[in-house]
Amino acid sequence: MKVIDQNKSHLKSENSLLSVDNIRKDFPILDRMINGHKLVYLDNAATTQKPQTVIDAITSYYAGFNANVHRGLHTLAEEATSAMEKTRDKTAAFIGGVKREEIVFTRNATESINLVVSSWGKKNIKQGDRIVITQMEHHANLVPWIMLAKETGAELEYIPIDQNGYLNLSNINNIITPKTKIVALTHMSNVLGTINPVAEIISLAHKNNALVLIDGAQSVPHMPVDVKTLDADFYVFSAHKMLGPTGVGVLYAREEILNEMEPVIFGGEMINEVRFDFADWAELPMKFEAGTPNIADLVAFAPALDYLNKIGMDKIRQHEIEITTYGLEELRKLDFIKIFGPDNVLDRGGVISFVDDKIHSHDLSQYLDSKGVAVRAGHHCAQPLVKLLGVTSTSRASFYIYNTNDEVDQLVEALKAARRYFVNG
Ligand code: ALA
Repeated sequence: MKVIDQNKSHLKSENSLLSVDNIRKDFPILDRMINGHKLVYLDNAATTQKPQTVIDAITSYYAGFNANVHRGLHTLAEEATSAMEKTRDKTAAFIGGVKREEIVFTRNATESINLVVSSWGKKNIKQGDRIVITQMEHHANLVPWIMLAKETGAELEYIPIDQNGYLNLSNINNIITPKTKIVALTHMSNVLGTINPVAEIISLAHKNNALVLIDGAQSVPHMPVDVKTLDADFYVFSAHKMLGPTGVGVLYAREEILNEMEPVIFGGEMINEVRFDFADWAELPMKFEAGTPNIADLVAFAPALDYLNKIGMDKIRQHEIEITTYGLEELRKLDFIKIFGPDNVLDRGGVISFVDDKIHSHDLSQYLDSKGVAVRAGHHCAQPLVKLLGVTSTSRASFYIYNTNDEVDQLVEALKAARRYFVNG
């Protein structure tokens, strides 16, 4: 069984520096022309592009060992199960070497949070308890908690943000209190780029006997994350934001917590024994993975993890600091552009949200697309936060391992051209 041919990758493991030129050769989409211009893909916080090895792994599965997992005793079923379960081992290793039983596969980070809310939340949150989240959550880590608070009568309390896009922790001891049962927050804001002091917040929450869920959808792809050192109770992320396929999400939770949680989806694969009037559950993590999983995409997530490991998450973080520094410097030269989020690049990931003082972000985004530059425009699934920033939408450029300073220049040139077209034309 050959899932992936590593020799096809242009990455050389002995490289001491991140070689963006070599990396770009592994991403076929980056050769695409958009409206007569070479694609400049700056929408990586929404989803990243895929290297050839990931694309090939999907084909290899369907062409070579397509079978259902965990239930067949024939060769194909064993190969499919082994490939999928290898991804679980690699995922467990990727976030700091947790137990494989602590990795539950879902469809995306959103589903991982919903699983925690529906299972752990409904069992443990009661009227009068407090749920703490922050004002910079995107809808996936906001709406499920609103619903849980409504259903249980619990209080929903927010850690506010300050004018510079940081969490304002000055009143934190009155927000996280012994009434608090769960604190749920993003590790890195998808709008502001802010990297939050999650270790500090986890420590304070634990002193109050509260658990903590960290939304790592924007952090795990971009920096080294060790969930055990952080002492997170729940940590969620999505494969498609880290070179992997869509349709694969991860819920990490400590084993003792998962053991106490009830499944919320019932059926095949997640049972131990079923009688006509009885069922009990399989061991972890299967009790949370009812039905046939997304096997092809799970198999293809492994080469994405291999790719990131081969570069090294430290180097990826360093590359993003460098390109974000350059991006902030260049955008700050444009007096018609307002940038949101921390000034200090070390406190932010590779995400720059901005507005033009005269052009709506939707018009701007469409104009940038006419020049081949892909950014996201809108509320970024974080409506309350964007409203707090005093706008209805922003444009957002977000970087990854294959982006270059030249592409930042193309963004800047396209912004100037938009100004000539819409304002000074
Ligand atoms: N939360 C994702 C984004 O920021 C969808 O684009």
